[in-house]
Amino acid sequence: MIPKNHLSLPSHPLRFKKWINITVCLTFLGTIQPLLPSAFAAEEPMKNEAPATTEVTKGTEVAKSDEDRVNILGGFDHLSRESATCVSCHREKSQGIYQQWGYSKHFRANVGCYECHKAKAGEPDAIKHKDSIISVIVSPKDCAECHKREVAEFDRSHHATGGQILDSLDNVLADVVEGAPMLHGKSPVVVSGCEACHGSKVEVNSDGTLSVASWPNSGIGRLNPDGSKGSCSACHTRHSFSAAQARHPNTCGRCHLGPDHPQKEIYEESQHGINFVANLDKMNLASDKWIVGEDYSAAPTCATCHMSATKDLPVSHDIGDRIAWNLRAPISFHIDEKDLAKGKQVKPWLERRKDMKMVCVSCHSRNTTDNFFEQFDTFVELYNEKFAKPGDKLMKVIIGEGLLTPTQFDEELEWTWFYLWHHEGRRARHGAAMVGPDFAHWEGMYEVAHRFYIEMVPQVKEILERAKANGKEAKVAKVQTVLDEVLNSDFHRWYLGKAPAKK
Ligand code: HEC
Ligand code: HEC
Ligand code: HEC
Ligand code: HEC
Ligand code: HEC
Ligand code: HEC
Ligand code: HEC
Ligand code: HEC
Repeated sequence: MIPKNHLSLPSHPLRFKKWINITVCLTFLGTIQPLLPSAFAAEEPMKNEAPATTEVTKGTEVAKSDEDRVNILGGFDHLSRESATCVSCHREKSQGIYQQWGYSKHFRANVGCYECHKAKAGEPDAIKHKDSIISVIVSPKDCAECHKREVAEFDRSHHATGGQILDSLDNVLADVVEGAPMLHGKSPVVVSGCEACHGSKVEVNSDGTLSVASWPNSGIGRLNPDGSKGSCSACHTRHSFSAAQARHPNTCGRCHLGPDHPQKEIYEESQHGINFVANLDKMNLASDKWIVGEDYSAAPTCATCHMSATKDLPVSHDIGDRIAWNLRAPISFHIDEKDLAKGKQVKPWLERRKDMKMVCVSCHSRNTTDNFFEQFDTFVELYNEKFAKPGDKLMKVIIGEGLLTPTQFDEELEWTWFYLWHHEGRRARHGAAMVGPDFAHWEGMYEVAHRFYIEMVPQVKEILERAKANGKEAKVAKVQTVLDEVLNSDFHRWYLGKAPAKK
């Protein structure tokens, strides 16, 4: 059992001083009891006392009981003096925060304000606050003091690098095309858009406060003043820091939605999402351990497939641990490909696939699972070979021959190609990956095909005609050769009125 909170704060002297009559006082307490800070409710014993799924260790010590676990994790028997001081003010000044903390497991383990917000003088974002030195940001490095394993897993994941998009193609959109440097030199579209999901590089003012051009921010790959990457509150919102909330698909759906990566919408239309909503009361989200097949079985959530435990797999904070493909690049490739090319040792994609299948077989047969993945892999290969590689080749030769200006997004063909792979092509691949037929087809490949035949190819032809009129015959011939090759291939010859390839 988790030790109870021994929080012994000075009771509110100002409020209670005048109530000398004990009976009056008790009656009063009785009537306001439901209004008392919820923190006191946490003195109730925990409902779920199943052991943790995550092995908690420190050196050679392995936690055998919940009490060990809390001790190893840095919980305390009593709230620290420093934190009690913070609370004495903040229970009045920031009631919302106080209440949220009161509901959290941190409260129950006496992990207080100071344990998270403490800082050392000289740290970039340290501020003198009343009698203490604190920082507003509590970075993964701070959480790592007690949650080393989760932080290490998170740190090697693609989530941790989510903030490094400043030089990407889409950033030109938010910086220049849609935006202007009006917020202390930054585009407000970048600040309120991209960085709110991806994470900002947090800048610190000379007095230790945080710059308005980068704060507030809880983007997934935030670049923190202490050099660490990410923000744990992207999923575990402050100050409840709950595992149950992070298991809910809406938590991921905050970022994983919209025209270019509609994972949330795909999930909602899949039988998995439908079963989740219909059986929310059976999902057992607040359970301490949460093993698929044992603690719940109605439906998988995003966390189930990408993070949570199965009977054979532990929880992982590296969301790429069970992913085989990169489905967001213009042309899909296996997730380990780039690292292997650089000579880096990483978990091979086949092993990741094996782990993902282990999730499925908690609820499906081996045969259903294997067939599903063969359908999905073939879908990705079709997208790659029929549209992505030919489209990419056309764009490269047109740019290579100088038939587009070097300025990005000033010509229609650039938008057409961007829509094709970045919006529609991703939607199609994500739909096929996560059992969303409407996205695989109508929102996906149907749109890809329309974009390719009815926009991209005619726009390429138009560019060639204009170039020919301007006397650039040699350049035109090079592009024309590629276009002819593409259109005469088995995939596209139907478009020229020729018989389509045989089965
Ligand atoms: C004497 C009262 C008092 C004490 C003690 C106190 N605070 Fe505060 N704190 C405040 C007030 C007042 C604010 C401003 C609230 C606001 O802006 O709404 C504040 C603001 C903050 C902020 C937000 C700063 C920002 O820039 O957003 C943090 C974080 C914070 N306190 C943490 C702590 C921690 C941790 C402790 C204990 C080490 C502590 N406080 C102790 C009164 C106090
Ligand atoms: C488990 C660690 C943890 C504990 C315990 C904790 N905080 Fe925080 N606090 C955070 C994180 C994380 C943030 C968000 C900053 C960030 O993203 O790095 C935050 C933000 C804040 C803010 C700014 C919030 C806003 O929306 O303006 C205040 C004020 C604050 N904390 C006060 C407190 C007080 C008071 C307590 C104790 C009752 C407390 N914190 C306990 C981790 C913690
Ligand atoms: C001083 C140690 C300490 C620090 C710092 C700390 N935690 Fe914790 N955390 C704990 C303890 C102890 C528990 C309770 C373990 C239990 O009840 O099983 C816990 C539990 C949790 C849980 C599980 C909650 C649940 O619903 O099961 C999450 C999530 C979490 N912490 C996130 C964070 C994040 C994020 C930070 C940094 C912003 C942080 N913690 C900082 C000690 C700490
Ligand atoms: C609603 C949240 C959200 C916003 C706003 C957003 N993104 Fe993203 N972005 C994501 C998510 C989620 C992914 C991962 C998608 C996937 O894996 O399918 C992503 C992927 C990317 C990638 C691909 C990264 C890689 O590793 O291949 C780039 C680059 C990118 N975004 C840049 C931007 C830029 C620049 C902006 C602003 C113009 C922006 N994003 C706006 C959520 C967002
Ligand atoms: C992408 C969302 C996401 C982010 C970001 C995230 N977590 Fe979690 N976290 C989860 C989920 C989901 C669970 C529940 C896993 C399960 O089913 O038990 C969890 C569980 C935990 C737990 C409970 C123990 C466990 O492993 O189940 C701790 C502690 C924790 N997270 C700490 C952190 C810390 C520290 C960070 C920042 C480095 C962080 N988390 C960032 C989603 C996230
Ligand atoms: C605050 C925004 C945000 C939240 C919340 C979030 N993600 Fe992400 N996620 C991203 C971004 C941005 C990327 C792309 C990062 C990159 O490659 O640069 C990403 C990438 C991913 C990837 C691809 C990983 C890889 O290695 O290719 C998976 C899978 C994923 N997220 C799953 C989840 C799950 C599951 C949750 C919820 C438990 C979640 N995400 C919550 C923003 C978010
Ligand atoms: C039934 C299991 C399952 C569920 C539920 C699920 N996913 Fe996935 N997800 C997958 C599989 C399978 C893939 C493809 C894996 C591969 O590449 O082999 C995938 C791929 C992804 C990717 C990688 C996309 C890229 O561009 O590379 C992201 C991001 C993602 N899922 C996020 C989510 C989010 C967010 C949710 C919830 C809204 C979710 N998933 C729900 C199984 C699931
Ligand atoms: C927690 C249990 C659970 C897990 C884990 C799970 N599913 Fe499902 N899945 C279901 C349920 C329930 C249905 C709806 C079945 C029905 O229609 O009767 C379903 C339906 C499906 C369907 C549609 C089947 C059909 O007959 O049309 C596919 C495909 C599928 N799941 C694939 C997967 C894959 C792939 C994974 C692993 C990445 C997975 N599922 C993980 C519970 C699960």
